[in-house]
Amino acid sequence: MDNLDKDIQATAKGFHCILCNVNVPNKASLDAHLKGRKHVKLSTVRATRKAQVEHSVFVSGIRPDTAQADLVGYFQKFGPVSEVIMDKDKGVYAIVEFSEKDSLQATLAQLEHDMNGLKLRVKPRETKEFKLILKKRQDPKNLHQILERLTPELCQTTSVNEQMQKVVERFQLGENEKKARELLVQLLQEVFTEFFPDSQILPFGSSVNTFDIHSCDLDLFLDLYNTKVFQAQAKCSSEQAGEGPSDDARSEDSILSDIDLSTASPAEVLELVATILRKCVPGVHKVMPVSGARLPVVKFIHKELNLQGDITINNRLAVRNTRYLQLCSGLDSRLRPLVYTIRYWAKQKQLAGNPSGAGPLLNNYALTLLVIFYLQKCDPPILPSVNQLKDMACEEEVCVIEGWNCTFPSQPIAVPPSRNTQDLCALLSGFFSFYAQFDFASSVISIREGCSLPVTSFLTREKANGDNEEPERSLGPKLGPLNVLDPFELRHNVAGNLTERSQRNFQRECQEAEKYCRSLQYQRKSTKGKVWGLVRLFTPRDDDSRKVTEGGERELAVSVPFKLAALPEAIRGQLHSAGDGFRLLWFQKVCSAVEGLFQEVLRCSLTDTVIGKNTEGNTVSPIGKSTNDQGQDTSRRASTSSDCSPKSKATPGAKRALPSSESSDASLSPQGKRPRLDSHTGPQPDSPQWTYVQTHRVWAGRRKVRRELVKGAMDVDSRPEGSSVELETQVTRHIMEKEPEDKEPLLFQVQAQLVGGTESTRAVITFRPSADGAGLFQDFFHFLEMFLPKMADTLMGKMV
Ligand code: UTP
Repeated sequence: MDNLDKDIQATAKGFHCILCNVNVPNKASLDAHLKGRKHVKLSTVRATRKAQVEHSVFVSGIRPDTAQADLVGYFQKFGPVSEVIMDKDKGVYAIVEFSEKDSLQATLAQLEHDMNGLKLRVKPRETKEFKLILKKRQDPKNLHQILERLTPELCQTTSVNEQMQKVVERFQLGENEKKARELLVQLLQEVFTEFFPDSQILPFGSSVNTFDIHSCDLDLFLDLYNTKVFQAQAKCSSEQAGEGPSDDARSEDSILSDIDLSTASPAEVLELVATILRKCVPGVHKVMPVSGARLPVVKFIHKELNLQGDITINNRLAVRNTRYLQLCSGLDSRLRPLVYTIRYWAKQKQLAGNPSGAGPLLNNYALTLLVIFYLQKCDPPILPSVNQLKDMACEEEVCVIEGWNCTFPSQPIAVPPSRNTQDLCALLSGFFSFYAQFDFASSVISIREGCSLPVTSFLTREKANGDNEEPERSLGPKLGPLNVLDPFELRHNVAGNLTERSQRNFQRECQEAEKYCRSLQYQRKSTKGKVWGLVRLFTPRDDDSRKVTEGGERELAVSVPFKLAALPEAIRGQLHSAGDGFRLLWFQKVCSAVEGLFQEVLRCSLTDTVIGKNTEGNTVSPIGKSTNDQGQDTSRRASTSSDCSPKSKATPGAKRALPSSESSDASLSPQGKRPRLDSHTGPQPDSPQWTYVQTHRVWAGRRKVRRELVKGAMDVDSRPEGSSVELETQVTRHIMEKEPEDKEPLLFQVQAQLVGGTESTRAVITFRPSADGAGLFQDFFHFLEMFLPKMADTLMGKMV
């Protein structure tokens, strides 16, 4: 309990858990956090460490050749020893852990320790406070420091163009670093050839794709194709000669006599690669095969060169797409400074750059492809599409890997230069505008075709690649909140790991950056010595600022993103038939789900009763009419076609019909441009509103009730929160039966708006408390932020 008190700090916005570095808004969330996996795990680790420290002593004065067994033998006379940890590299100290605390006291009580003539110094362990170590990329201090060093250099330049060139100079690998990497690759090639005749070690990724930065990892592909051929031939010839294993000198000495590459699993080959690295390559440490990853890999560290290396055995496509990135850099010199600047911006804003592409951020490859796509879409285009490049290649350049057409010219000279003359400053701000308004949720970015494709078209694509020359692919890409097709492997969405939240953050940061790029502070050097240009763009992300609206109020809105892949087959079919009107049709389904959520699941009553003043300052009367200063009726009511909501009880006549998705095509303007469908400035004809009353705190203690219900009845669905309509409805009913009614019921308005076309397609559900005498709405809203999107998905999943 002591630790718990020390771990938790009350803050202006709720509570902060020091142990986990997490903020929570209220007591209920705090309780949930304290019982959660992260907190429990860290508390356990802390307790274990503390116990270890209390049971062990620090021993110095040993020699590099001192054996662990000698230490165990010596210290056992004070009590049973459970572990001895030695400093392996230098052999100057050891930590001896006893099973019992008393042994520690006995050891420390003895003033001198003589182990076979060796004078040992024995001390108690230093107790360090247990702290969660933040990963480097999350540490805001680290990001600030890099920027602090870069700022004076950038401010001294005279233009944004020059600043962008400076960013390249500051981050790219130096000549010596490049040379050192080349030498390591050569060394690895020599070593691997010894064991795998005719194999090739080929670098790919940032070391060689022209977007290198200090400390970038060294990605390598060990190509064993020729070795397999060699092995098969050797086997065949020895069988023909009726002999045992081949007497070919190369294979006899090689490790190949132990493994058949044609049948070995990737894990077996990786294990072998790891052994060779450990035993035969000087300077290599921490070798670790990871065979469970999408691409099995052996990781290693080269200590002297201070670099992390990855060796894969099945990544020919990556070598080819690296060649493609090199070609793009050669085609237009503006690509490199743009990519360096955008990568650094994205890193500062914590949008990209997570190691090995794991986790929900954009990887550097995906981000680079986003820049390339933007340059394809500039007017006139700066880079051609991959299909256009394919047509410019000659016969010798035809390249097909794993069935994917990877043909493009080997030299930039084969491609006519772009007629676009925009400078870097304009292109950078153009990048932000382009993605600030991009409808990610309903598009698939195709670098191959040089355009974005409607996501609904992927529902019927038998051939995900759309190229007649290429093989049929039954599997399409994994669609998500951000879809960027690999230029060659057309069923791979390189941003498939992104979550709604990371996609939203990316777009929001683009919108912020777009706004800033319009200011003079971006475009012109300050005459008063203030920061200008790229510097402000690179300011690390501040978490708190993003949730506050311009007026300083917290925006009470929850988004339901368009997620095609999560919808049931029947709805997907309807959306596909609706063509460009798919957004409106989908929005109707969301509105029905929102009604179902409030009326059925949370058992709120749809009402006319409006009490007190609403947030627009209109006086609202107990009999249900809201009036403005002129006494005009301003109260609004629900208005959706509720065919899809489970047993909707929306009052007839209280509805405003949504525009029909068949009759109107709101997503396209006469110019063919997509107009903004949203407006946050007030109700629109296509923005239905409801007013609800909630008499019980149905959001509080749901987890506990759910657990009890699931335990008590085996037939009740036990999936996670928000994934079962029946269970959530039961939870609400249970709370309403058990808990007393609130004396001052909560009255709130809900409004749904469709956003899309010029932003990621989503439904924005905005809330306004109309009567909240007991101050409950913040808690209710906090619950809805998580619950509503999940429940809306579940309700839509049940629609037909
Ligand atoms: P990274 O995303 O690591 O990019 O992908 P990077 O340029 O090497 O940046 P660092 O290493 O984070 O500094 C490395 C390479 O892996 C291949 C590409 O060849 C890319 O250049 N790759 C990555 C793919 O082929 N597909 C992917 O989805 C991701």
